[in-house]
Amino acid sequence: AKRVLLDVDTGIDDALGILLAVKSRQLDVVGITTVCGNVSQQQATLNTCKILELAGARHIPVYAGATAPLLRKKFHEHRVHGQDGLGGALSDLIPAKKPEEGFAPDYILATALMTPGELTLIMTGPLTNLALALQKFPELPQYVEEVIFMGGVVRGPGNVTPVAEYNIYADPEAARLVLEAGFPKLTQIGLDVTRKALLTEDHIRQLTDPLLRQYVADSTAAYIDRYEFVNGVRACAMHDPLAVAVAIEPQLVETQSYSMDVETGSRLCDGQTVCDIQNRLGLQPNVLVAETVDSQAFMNLFIETLNR
Ligand code: BDR
Ligand code: CA
Repeated sequence: AKRVLLDVDTGIDDALGILLAVKSRQLDVVGITTVCGNVSQQQATLNTCKILELAGARHIPVYAGATAPLLRKKFHEHRVHGQDGLGGALSDLIPAKKPEEGFAPDYILATALMTPGELTLIMTGPLTNLALALQKFPELPQYVEEVIFMGGVVRGPGNVTPVAEYNIYADPEAARLVLEAGFPKLTQIGLDVTRKALLTEDHIRQLTDPLLRQYVADSTAAYIDRYEFVNGVRACAMHDPLAVAVAIEPQLVETQSYSMDVETGSRLCDGQTVCDIQNRLGLQPNVLVAETVDSQAFMNLFIETLNR
């Protein structure tokens, strides 16, 4: 199985990504790190512990990370994920599972160095923890097999501002550090593809484990209502689970390599992932951009894996 470390700001779709990862036989989830994002780092950590308990995966260590972005003020997404980040699901659960002692960026470094070239990082929140790890140890990229991050958008609008996607917008300086770090393989799963990865109520009915089905229904109910109000379709966008799925099955997306940077000094465009589609600047490519997705194969993989 592929050794993966998940970095999350557990949120509704992060939670579904965690479930997919821990249920997959193709992945060995060595640990999970949490970051300030959709909700506070403390809430993201608690939510992650709840999800691991639900999944019967208490053995997976959880490390708490950054409590704020590198430079910016905190910007949570309670409108999308609810006050607690899980859309009110599992609100009564007091998990026996607790986070480990130690700081997420240090754990990321230690884990990568333990197995040089064998670790895949799956990032589904703002990139603060990875940026902090890079600031401590700039050679980190040489020790990592791949980084897959959910964030940004190349063609199409943002989901926070007209041009910026949430994970990049919430900590654009961190995103830039990650893009400039020189990872041998850095794969972007942006809104270009995640907007097409939609969980419907019909999908939820196909989940066979009653506990998981109830959880997924509860956590996505308000999200689906809001999504319908905004987009006219009853669905939950599976941004973060798609990033996990690409670690399991890279063929789900088609990628192209480009050079990409993040805007950090603009009144209107902060957090925009600026992708040099026509190589105007003549720079070396630094990212593989997912451009198309087989949505149906993805949803099949998600449902089959949770039904296992
Ligand atoms: C991303 O932002 C968060 O709200 C989601 O969890 C996902 O990681 C989508 O823009
Ligand atoms: Ca997320």
